[in-house]
Amino acid sequence: MADIGQDIGKAIQFLKANGVVGIPTETVYGLAGNAFSEKAILKIFEVKNRPLSDPLITHVPDLKSIEPLVTDFPELAKKLFDAFSPGPLTILLPKSILISDLVTNSSSYVAIRIPRHPLTLELLHSIDFPLVAPSANSFGALSPSSALHVQKGLGNFIPYILDGGPCLVGLESTIIKIENDNQVRVLRQGGISEEELQLFAILDNSETQNKPVVPGTMLSHYAPRKPLILDSIHEVLKSHLPVRIGYLGFSSYHELIPVENQILLSETGKMDEAARHLFGALHELDEKEIDVILVSKIPEIGLGKAIWDRLKRASAKRG
Ligand code: TXA
Ligand code: MG
Repeated sequence: MADIGQDIGKAIQFLKANGVVGIPTETVYGLAGNAFSEKAILKIFEVKNRPLSDPLITHVPDLKSIEPLVTDFPELAKKLFDAFSPGPLTILLPKSILISDLVTNSSSYVAIRIPRHPLTLELLHSIDFPLVAPSANSFGALSPSSALHVQKGLGNFIPYILDGGPCLVGLESTIIKIENDNQVRVLRQGGISEEELQLFAILDNSETQNKPVVPGTMLSHYAPRKPLILDSIHEVLKSHLPVRIGYLGFSSYHELIPVENQILLSETGKMDEAARHLFGALHELDEKEIDVILVSKIPEIGLGKAIWDRLKRASAKRG
């Protein structure tokens, strides 16, 4: 099992030796390695059992650390980082030669973000290389929103998890690409809502042939081990008899399911609270003595859109 603690120095030792460690961010825990070390990058893919075709996000402590990693830094990208960073926004930018093709799956764009967590920011400020960090879970499994989730999923394969407490946003970063001076395309819904982005840029939702594929947006991702079902309880009873049903509610309990098998995302119906609780609730339901997890509809406004996106993918048939 991995050691868990708050020792930044210890995390740095492993990272400097091309090792990988769990790190806290405001979105989900990351599995971090030196972005300039081929050995560390390959180790990340191996530990997660992730195909090399799924590129990694590069994490930096501040805006000025981005300059050497890119060949172009459009004003709109700077404006958006200024507005939302440190925070859950990832922007695709043309990569410089400092970024290995292994990080980007040979794409000429690198995904960059500045995470908002005091421990990880201190860590990033203390080293002279950026960190590549996918979510610290096995490929396709539920994302980790606490150090214990990381321990449960990857503890046997990594030496250390930096414990920064529960993640305060709870949804992965929103990934965008700059289209031109004032337009962006959202490639993955996440911790910054479209409504927030629209305060600074026009969103391009048009269909296009050369839209970059973001593997985290494949169907069947972010999945618990138990089947997750978005239908009504009547559909569940029709097709899954006999069955012990668990329930992930938005703000109110389901009258036909035992209360001990239910978890509410936010009793007061607050979207940010619901996002914060999402992965923890799914991890918890996965451990209960139930056969399937029924999910209530989530209003698709603000962060609700990203929450619903995760639930849809978690419910998709595997394999
Ligand atoms: O909030 C987050 O973004 C978390 C924390 C740890 O920072 N990280 C995260 O990483 O969610 P991951 O690897 O689980 O998801 C990152 C997504 C992947 O689906 C990947 O395909 C996409 O970002 N991505 C990374 N680099 C890319 C690139 N150069 N072009 C297109 N998509 C890219
Ligand atoms: Mg992930």
